[in-house]
Amino acid sequence: MAAVVGLGGMGFLLLILIPSLEVLSAEQREALSSAVAGRFRWAICSAIALLLLSGIYNTRYYFREIPWGRAWEFLTVKILLSFILFAIVLGLSIPFRLFEPLRVRRRQWLLVAFILGVVVVLISAYLR
Ligand code: HEM
Repeated sequence: MAAVVGLGGMGFLLLILIPSLEVLSAEQREALSSAVAGRFRWAICSAIALLLLSGIYNTRYYFREIPWGRAWEFLTVKILLSFILFAIVLGLSIPFRLFEPLRVRRRQWLLVAFILGVVVVLISAYLR
């Protein structure tokens, strides 16, 4: 569920909201962007917390039942990719000056995060 909300939200921003901002003046664009960013921050932080909790819970089963092998390798790649994805999304949504270079190219980084999300979901489907 958290995966659907997170990925769906990123897809909506990328394909619909960001391109539609063109019709607004610079001032209106700024106001709408910061209102959306404020709400998106909570949604994305909750999605990350839920994915981490369910991921740790699911990994317990792996420790108990699955011997080291291909499935563990894919799971390791999946966890690494999802941590990179979490870092990008948090960098884009938390208003720290440190993350400014990331936010300057918001659309490109959102696209990278979205593609990572699709890869993570595909790996998860393979692991089932
Ligand atoms: C962007 C982040 C993530 C997404 C989108 C994601 C998505 C998913 C999905 C869709 C499933 C299949 C659930 C099901 O149908 O039952 C799954 C299973 C799983 N996830 Fe994640 N996940 C993410 C992060 C993580 C993390 C951080 C961990 C580990 C700490 C993790 C560990 C697992 C494990 C062990 C499974 C069970 C695989 C199996 O069925 O054998 N996930 N995940």
